[in-house]
Formats: sequence, structure tokens, C-alpha cells
Amino acid sequence: MCGIIGYIGNEKAAPILIKGLKNLEYRGYDSAGISTISKNNIIIEKDTGKIDEIEKKINFDSMGGSVGISHCRWATHGNVTKENAHPHTDCTGKISIVHNGIIENFSELKEKLIKKGHKFSSTTDTEVIVHLIEEHYKGSIEEAARNALKEVEGSYALGVICSDEPDKLIAARNESPLIVGIGKNSMLIASDVPAILDYTNKVAYLDDKEIAVLTKDHFKITDLNNNVKNKDVHTIEWAKEAAQKSGYKHFMLKEIYEQPRVITETLNGRIEGGSINIKEELNLSDKELLEINRIIIVACGTSWHAGLAGEFMFEELAKIPAEVEYASEFRYRHPVLDDKTLVIAISQSGETADTLAAMKEAKKQNAMILSICNVKGSTIARGSDSVLYTHAGPEIGVASTKAFTSQLVVLYLLTLYLSKLRNTLNDEKILDLIAHLRKLPLQLESVLSNDNKVKELAELYSDKTNALYLGRGINYPIALEGALKLKEISYIHAEGYPAAEMKHGPIALIDKEMPVVFVAPKDIYTYKKVLGNIEEVKARGGIVIAIATEGDEEIRKKADHIIYIPKNLYTLSSILAVVPLQLLAYHIADKRGCNVDKPRNLAKSVTVE
Ligand code: F6R
Repeated sequence: MCGIIGYIGNEKAAPILIKGLKNLEYRGYDSAGISTISKNNIIIEKDTGKIDEIEKKINFDSMGGSVGISHCRWATHGNVTKENAHPHTDCTGKISIVHNGIIENFSELKEKLIKKGHKFSSTTDTEVIVHLIEEHYKGSIEEAARNALKEVEGSYALGVICSDEPDKLIAARNESPLIVGIGKNSMLIASDVPAILDYTNKVAYLDDKEIAVLTKDHFKITDLNNNVKNKDVHTIEWAKEAAQKSGYKHFMLKEIYEQPRVITETLNGRIEGGSINIKEELNLSDKELLEINRIIIVACGTSWHAGLAGEFMFEELAKIPAEVEYASEFRYRHPVLDDKTLVIAISQSGETADTLAAMKEAKKQNAMILSICNVKGSTIARGSDSVLYTHAGPEIGVASTKAFTSQLVVLYLLTLYLSKLRNTLNDEKILDLIAHLRKLPLQLESVLSNDNKVKELAELYSDKTNALYLGRGINYPIALEGALKLKEISYIHAEGYPAAEMKHGPIALIDKEMPVVFVAPKDIYTYKKVLGNIEEVKARGGIVIAIATEGDEEIRKKADHIIYIPKNLYTLSSILAVVPLQLLAYHIADKRGCNVDKPRNLAKSVTVE
């Protein structure tokens, strides 16, 4: 959802900006650009297309200067054109900005600025900001930015440079992510951590309506009224290699394969003998947790699917009523909450605008907020009463994989903690569940060792135009997730459905061209019924691919293809079952020649509502 990186220091800015943009390209990839100050002039290079292609056109000799800003775009206002690519400049050509966010009052501001004689060269909302800064400029870019932003409504993460003040880089944020990186004789700004890991692991977080003024060896953060804000400097623990492909063809494949290690990390230090050790992380007292009378989970996309699985866990094991809401719908349907409601916000990035908005609504109503996030220091994490981190490491592939399985594991840990606290499970049962949880990393290895079989299936079905994914109980969210993975990266239309619902409509779609993926590990609840659903598909000529429990011979007789996963408990087998679905989507998309890590129209971290 647009990426920003800015640099000020002793090195030439342009190559650093381009390298940083490549690490941020997963946030937006329809156009990109950079600007630097060279011999007291703003120099801009920008275009539509991929950063690699744009890089080839840049004349790095003319792009001197050791201060600069850059941007990769995911279009919101204005088509994908060179003119609409960032950076944008004012009428004098002395001020240049990059922006991530949406300016809500841009039409009024634009009209006002045009009346004052400003000439616009793009159809973006962003351009009003640079003209507004020009309007306020009286020799201090910092003051001009501050005054301009007082007139702006909407979300922004901004980088600003001015050729009259070549030793300054200005940054500002409101409801769009932006961090300040503190290097050696250099300062950086970026939308996300991977962009700066090559230069520093020390960061300060900007909060809403704050401005940072950076020189190469100093930073100052103030609010819009120029009150200084003291900020802690945090150390990022991610190794820079974690944000590289390390020999894999795509980030997505690397991230799928990382799952055994990631789950080990997620569990690390959180299990002690027969108990779940998350009390320290939960900034909520046992008394508060005992008083919870319901849980509402808010999330989007894949994280919403994790929430749906979490609902099964909380109700089945901890006996707490739980509901899952699309974050984007939640606040507009006037939910009724109170201080006994625990709202759980799930977000890999911790920056998803819809989830953040839902969380704010819940806060207004005094609900307790717990978030499950992957990115440390992200806005959602910082705004919650408590955070349980997934410790999945940077997820670069736009399609979420390892974040999902680690979210499921955190939900499971939380469920066990609450179950013990509320006495819904006895110690013996908890010990047994923990023993099964500990099996996951090795079992995930074993699932991955079947990759070749999944690849063979992908070869057979990559030319199909539709697919159905069916599952019941906790495997229903897994079916939804399998369908989402396929559609988002291969552009094949895929639907996830509760298996028994098929006969109420989707069954009409089934013919000999329709692959139907059943997520059908053996369980004591609905397995037999799912076998019946498989028969219904076969009777209509459909192609059945089943994800089944090792040793299940009964299903083998009915399905056309089987991918086995190791035996585990009902709830935990869902974590194993999703992996072949991730691989299936990956191999089909790769076979179809799709841009797996950067699917069309999508962006990682959706920071606009
Ligand atoms: C799908 C995917 C998205 C995200 C969704 C929420 O593969 O990645 O559906 O899950 O945009 O993002 P986070 O979890 O960052 O809030």
C-alpha cells in the first residue's frame, strides 16, 4: 500500500533509495520514483512499471546529493501514469514530497490552491500537499510542513525535501505507518522495517500527527504545534537475511518452507512443562481475563480466517462465546461492547487501516484490546492493551502464509491459557494438548516433504478456471484460506464453502471440469458427513482432491487425489492442512507464469480504508 523511504547522510542517496524501494516493493508496484537534491536543485526520476526497469533508466551521475526521498505506488487517487507517480513537486520545483495515505479534503484544497494560481500536473490527492507547503513556505520547510498539515484531513506518511534546505529531511505521519531509522552519520525514514535493515536496526516510531526533522546525525520529533516529543529508540531483532529470498525462487515459497522454524519460534519460551507461559506478555490481569464474557475477533483477509479458526478454539476448549467480524464492517454496524468484552485484533502487519479503525471503535466502548501481530512496534501493537507477537519474521510475499500458521498457534496458546484459568480443561488434558502442540514443527516438515506430490497436482490442474474448497468445523476457515491463496496469486476463481452448504447452491457448479478440494482430516465430528459430500461431488463428475489424515484408506477409495498430513488433534490438524493448500496455490500460480510475490492489484499492508 505504497512504500516510502528517505535518506540523509554522507553517502549518495539515490542508490540507497533504489535498494530500499526494492525491499519495499511488496507494498506497491504500479509505479515508482526518487528525488534527490543535487547542486541545490531537486532532481526527480519516476515512471510506471517495476523498480528494476525504472532503475535502468535513471542517470545516477546526474542524481548526486546525499539527501533524498522515494516511493513505490499502489494507486488510490489517479490512474497509473508517470505524472501520477511520486515524488511530486510544487510550482517552483524547489519542494518535493512522497506520500502514502489518502487526503480526504483534497478537492476543496485543490480548488483553493488553483484559485491562488497553483498549477497541478497530476490527478493525485498527494499533489495538494506539496502546493500547500509551498503556500506556507517562508524560509523554514519544517514550519511550512507543520502549518500545511494543520489544513490537511486524512491519512499520510510523508517525506519532504527542499532544495533551499539541503541538509534537512522532513517526515510526518497520520494513520499511515512511518518509522525513523537511526544509522551511523545517517538517518532514514521508511514505511516498514525491511527497507532500512541494511543500514540500521535502531528505530523510533512516529505517532499520529507528528513531524520528524532529520539531519544526518540528529532527529527531532514534534507534534503539529511544535511541542517536542521524546521518543525511545528500539532495536529491531530481525536479521537482514530474513528479508532476502535466500535461494528460493519466490519469497512466498521461502516463507512456506520457513513454517516449521517459525512455529518453533512462536512457541519458544511460551510453554513450560504443563503450563502456558504468556502471563507476562498479557498486560491483562487474571481477574480481568476471568471476567471476560465474550470475545470478538476483528481482522481482514487471511488474518480474518485465522480469527474464524480462533472462534472454534475459544468456544470448544475455553467455553467463551466468540464471534469474528470483518474489521471493515465492524464499526459501521454499531456494535455493542463493554469492559467485559475482549476484542482481539489480528494483523500480520499491524498497520491494516480497517483493523485499526475497528480497534479504535472497540476502545471507545471500553473493551479490552489484545492484538496478535507480527510486526513489533506496529500501530496496532502499540495501540493495544496487550500484544501477543507471532514471531514469524518479516513476511514479504504479498500472500500471507507463515503469518497465518503462527497466528493459529498464538490463538491456540491463548485458548489453553484461558482454559486453564477458567478451569474448562483439567491439567491432564492441557498436558496432552501441549504435547500435541509440540509435535507441530516436525509434522510441518513432513507435510513439506510431500511438496512434489502437490506440484504434480498443480501440473494437472493449472489450466482450470474455477475451483471449490470445502471443509467443516475448523477446516472451513482452512478451505476459505486455500481458496483465497489460489485466487489472489493465480487469478483462478476459487470459492471456499462449508462442505455441507455445497448442496444449498454451489453444487450446481460441479461438472467434470471442476476441481473440488476437500479439507478432510479425520475427526470425531463431521468426517463421515464430509465423505458423503465427496460422494455428492463424484456423482456429478467433479474432480476430488482430498487433504486427509495419514493412513486414512477410506477416503483414498473416494477421492481422485490424496495429500496426506500427519495425525494430530482436530484443532491442530488444521494448521497442518493449510500447508498443502499454500503449496498448491503457489505451484499453480508459478506454472501459469504469474507474479507470485506481487499479484496484480494487491499490496501488502493495506493502510487505507
Ligand atoms: C492474503 C493477505 C491479506 C491480509 C489482509 C490483512 O494473503 O495477505 O488478505 O491477510 O490484508 O493483513 P494484516 O494481517 O497485515 O492485517
